[in-house]
Amino acid sequence: MKKQVLTGIKPTGRVHLGNYIGAIKPALELAREETYHPAYFVADYHGLTKIHNKEEMNELSRGIAATWLALGLDPEKAIFYRQSDVPEIFELSWILACFSPKGLMNRAHAYKALAEENVRTGRETDTGVNMGLFTYPILMAADILLFQTEVVPVGKDQIQHVEIARDIAESFNHSFGETFTLPEYVIEKETAVLPGLDGRKMSKSYNNTIPLFEEPKKLKKLINKIKTDSSLPDEPKNPNDSIIFSLYKEFATEVQTEEMKKRFQSGIGWGEAKNELFEVMNEFLEEPRESYLELMDSPEKLNEILLDGAEKARKKTRPFLQEVKRNIGILHS
Ligand code: ADP
Ligand code: TRP
Repeated sequence: MKKQVLTGIKPTGRVHLGNYIGAIKPALELAREETYHPAYFVADYHGLTKIHNKEEMNELSRGIAATWLALGLDPEKAIFYRQSDVPEIFELSWILACFSPKGLMNRAHAYKALAEENVRTGRETDTGVNMGLFTYPILMAADILLFQTEVVPVGKDQIQHVEIARDIAESFNHSFGETFTLPEYVIEKETAVLPGLDGRKMSKSYNNTIPLFEEPKKLKKLINKIKTDSSLPDEPKNPNDSIIFSLYKEFATEVQTEEMKKRFQSGIGWGEAKNELFEVMNEFLEEPRESYLELMDSPEKLNEILLDGAEKARKKTRPFLQEVKRNIGILHS
């Protein structure tokens, strides 16, 4: 029996290298394995908790879809859809909301972080909190549980949400008998936190990202901005202390990486190291960047692929939703 694997990405910013290394790449690797049924989606209604601008929402949402496809997701092999095109998710979300204790939401980290920040800065606890943000984990539980998902590849920050989905599923099963499959998260590379231009975690919140499909000239400029120390060109350098080397090894072959390590140890100028980094990155990104731009230029094609995926998603999940409804006494047939 193949296992159901599912993950989503919310459109709240331009996809950067950290998103690729930490979330998209591992999910694509799982999708290539014969032992999994992949379902990957654009979590646009999760994005709506934050993005309240029509053009931005549209652009970012298409950007996520084009990114998955440009990086090689095959919509024939994976069910690939937009969350907002599958109403069954929202129906289940309401059902699950009625089984989710409010206290569980109070502890969910996206809400808690904002509430704590409000208190710290002397504001009302719930300033800026919309109910979408507060109930975010319930919608995510519906995403996961509707597909009877077994495996959820996510970054570290999402572990709590998968655990909440398990908690809700367990409590439902306890009352109504075994209905939901209990999902498990997988963290592909626990240690892989890609650093950004300033050496902190690459994140849109820190404004230190390298967008995945940045055009070559700008990519080069950004790479030149990476923070380095003041050591002279021929001074030996520790590759493990260097942002440039951390990024380099993600895009270079093993042989190139070994070679670069030696060059660091015997002394390489920062300018030269940055050039080398640009070369490997650009070579790796050239083809997907082209496909990405093509897809962004053909919104109808993108839409067609996504609608087709949503149809498959609905066909697969509708009977299960009926079963859930029957279990709670909503369908009487
Ligand atoms: P951001 O931190 O830029 O807001 P998100 O929170 O939207 O990014 O993250 C989307 C996915 O990308 C998550 O699964 C997250 O774990 C992963 N991710 C984000 N930044 C990094 C990084 N620097 N290194 C590895 N994975 C990352
Ligand atoms: N919350 C996830 C994030 O911020 C996105 C997401 C929504 C998701 N629904 C999901 C991830 C279901 C995995 C499974 O990155």
